[in-house]
Amino acid sequence: MNGVRVKRGERARRVRGLGRWSRAGELNWLAAIVSDSQDAIVSKSLDGTILSWNPGAERLYGFSAKDAIGRHIAIIVPEDRQDEIETILDRIRRGDKIEAHETVRRRKDGELVLVSVTVSPICVPDGGVVAASVIARDVTRRFEIERALAESEQHRRSILAGMLRAEEEERSRIATALHDDTVQVMTASLLAMDRAALVARRHGDTRVEDALAYARATLEEATERTRRLMFELRPAVLHEHGLAAALRLLADQTAREVGATARVEDHAGRYDTVTEELLYRSAQEALANVRRHAGADTITIELNRRPGWLEVAIEDDGRGFDVVDVRNRPDAAFHFGLETLVERVRVAGGHAHVASNPGSGTRVSFALPVTDEPAASPESTSRPTEARAPRRS
Ligand SMILES: Nc1ncnc2c1ncn2[C@@H]1O[C@H](COP(=O)(O)OP(=O)(O)OP(=O)(O)O)[C@@H](O)[C@H]1O
Ligand SMILES: [Mg+2]
Repeated sequence: MNGVRVKRGERARRVRGLGRWSRAGELNWLAAIVSDSQDAIVSKSLDGTILSWNPGAERLYGFSAKDAIGRHIAIIVPEDRQDEIETILDRIRRGDKIEAHETVRRRKDGELVLVSVTVSPICVPDGGVVAASVIARDVTRRFEIERALAESEQHRRSILAGMLRAEEEERSRIATALHDDTVQVMTASLLAMDRAALVARRHGDTRVEDALAYARATLEEATERTRRLMFELRPAVLHEHGLAAALRLLADQTAREVGATARVEDHAGRYDTVTEELLYRSAQEALANVRRHAGADTITIELNRRPGWLEVAIEDDGRGFDVVDVRNRPDAAFHFGLETLVERVRVAGGHAHVASNPGSGTRVSFALPVTDEPAASPESTSRPTEARAPRRS
């Protein structure tokens, strides 16, 4: 087979569609296709004896045609896969074609190669199977690229996980400091003010009493804000009960603050910590925007599981905005909440989308790739939550 060439005149006639094909010419033509192929093309008898071996097979397996023809196909099959030979031959004898499948073969030098192999029966005119053709392609390189990609994906996720863990630890540290120090001092100051106000009242000093009442109200407000900050920094409920439960709390709180109705629809379930934390922090930013900018009556949060993806969408019916204008306005550099959200989700291999128009609300949606089935949890059921509070004046 090696070096078989179609005669130049024959080829030219075929190309021009001129002249009749001689049987020998046709065979020559086909042999040239086999010979020139980059794939390894081998034929074998029904007992596995190698009958032909093209240059592609020489390159792939390292055996020359002279070495290989007449020997058993087992010479290129690794020890632990020898039983594949009989299974394949059985199917070929029945006339089955074995579509491209990946397997491992052994080169003459003992090195293993990953190949994609198609095996087809070769039939004589009356339909009987007399041999098999085997076409193999080296996919080791593709496999290596896929493995490198998978490793780099894993590496990226582990860097992200480390980053998020460090952020969470830092948040947790600040929350603890606020709780153990700042809030305690504030509470002690409130008590001290109460005592001072009592003394002022006893002395009938209404000016001091009023001034203290004003200072107390301000300090109380500051304490309340610090407590909320503590919650935002360390949402224990996220780790204990999952994303839907934590978003429900956040949505209820936001709704109460702006006098809106919040609705959370959960069709998801529980996922790994990195995924839940990233989605939670992204939703937190979108909800902070609703609180600060939207003036909405209704806030809807949806958690949806799509094949391979976990998606969260936060929608409000507030004043909306022009997405392009906002990006181009002069102070855009100082407002990067949404941009950071989109970027962080992208770094994690996901995608995010902000849709808004002046006067017709805003929808921020983002999705992360997930592989595992969601773990069962009591929060995985669809349970809309409503929270309504009077609007602040
Ligand atoms: N839900 C919303 N409703 C109305 N306007 C919004 C909404 N979300 C964002 N915007 C508009 O888009 C702008 C950009 O939002 P972005 O979150 O990037 O910045 P920011 O909230 O102003 O500042 P920060 O950097 O603190 O988040 C906001 O200033 C606001 O004008
Ligand atoms: Mg923002």
